[in-house]
Amino acid sequence: MIQIEQLTKVFGHGDARSLVLDRLDLSIEAGEIYAVVGPSGAGKTTLAQCVSLLERPTSGSVVVNGDTLSQLTEKQLRIARRRIGTIFQSDGLFGRRTAESNVALPLEYLGVTPTESRKRVAELLDRVGLADKAKHYPHQLSGGQRQRIGIARALALRPTVLLSDEATSGLDPQATNSIVELLKELRDDLDLAILFITHEMDTVLQVADCVARLDHGHIVESGRLIDLLSDPASDLGRALQPRRRHQDASAAASLWHVTYGETPVPADWLTRLAGELGTDVSLLGASIENLRGSTVGHATIAVSTVDPDRIAAALSGLGLHARLERDLPQRSLEDVA
Ligand SMILES: Nc1ncnc2c1ncn2[C@@H]1O[C@H](COP(=O)(O)OP(=O)(O)OP(=O)(O)O)[C@@H](O)[C@H]1O
Ligand SMILES: [Mg+2]
Repeated sequence: MIQIEQLTKVFGHGDARSLVLDRLDLSIEAGEIYAVVGPSGAGKTTLAQCVSLLERPTSGSVVVNGDTLSQLTEKQLRIARRRIGTIFQSDGLFGRRTAESNVALPLEYLGVTPTESRKRVAELLDRVGLADKAKHYPHQLSGGQRQRIGIARALALRPTVLLSDEATSGLDPQATNSIVELLKELRDDLDLAILFITHEMDTVLQVADCVARLDHGHIVESGRLIDLLSDPASDLGRALQPRRRHQDASAAASLWHVTYGETPVPADWLTRLAGELGTDVSLLGASIENLRGSTVGHATIAVSTVDPDRIAAALSGLGLHARLERDLPQRSLEDVA
């Protein structure tokens, strides 16, 4: 498990001094995935680096599996670090090594015999579902597969703690899903304590048992995912709500400007459109004008994202002229701010 107490990290001195983590407390149990979210520059990566002691905390303590890392000698620290696996956004694989040889790297450093190493690597590749890709080079693998190889490598020395810094960022939803499912399996089967850093709220919803929001080096809100989601007063809970996407036009959706005039348009065109697309359509504004005897209608609508070509075709089928105004952003942390 990971226990972080009053962790403070200051970079630089004098005028260049910047307080990046400010007396942070966080505790991650074995068998728990703890997500940390927060805007860019909040201190998430610094937190992960302090936990692996790639950065020395300025003050406070990080206790991993009962060892207070800052009190260890260099030698003890090297041993303690083996129990901490790390995976990053860039998978960090060596391009000239095959998948299996990448996974074998930590074992080689440790002087494990080739026979033992081969056995362990085969187990690990099997564990991440890529036994058939052992001889592939990183460029012959998809982003999600490379990330899984990175996870296999992180597991090589049987860690009890896994640090994941934006490991799913930039992956498509399917690849993200496969990584998330793998991490949950590892949590359950190996009883890992996992610190999962991300800026993707949807991923938090899929993976986390607990979640904390970091801002300017402070944890501004934290708790069990389920408690946050059911607390109407929680900003973080609201930002994480899956339903929000459909209820709120500012969630992932596209904005369309619609006009009608010459062609008769059914009065219930909005309902019909929603039915035809099988998605939510919100009317954000509308007006009807009478121009030289003919009626011209304008409307602005938000359609929960489906294929724009399908939306355009459905609108045109109803006798409406439509112009895609813009794609509205995915839900992001800016929603919380
Ligand atoms: N080695 C360093 N020296 C000086 N300042 C640093 C150092 N590393 C990080 N910082 C500063 O600490 C702050 C937090 O950086 P950090 O990388 O932890 O943010 P983050 O939350 O991971 O952001 P992102 O979401 O963009 O990855 C930033 O203002 C950054 O400039
Ligand atoms: Mg970062």
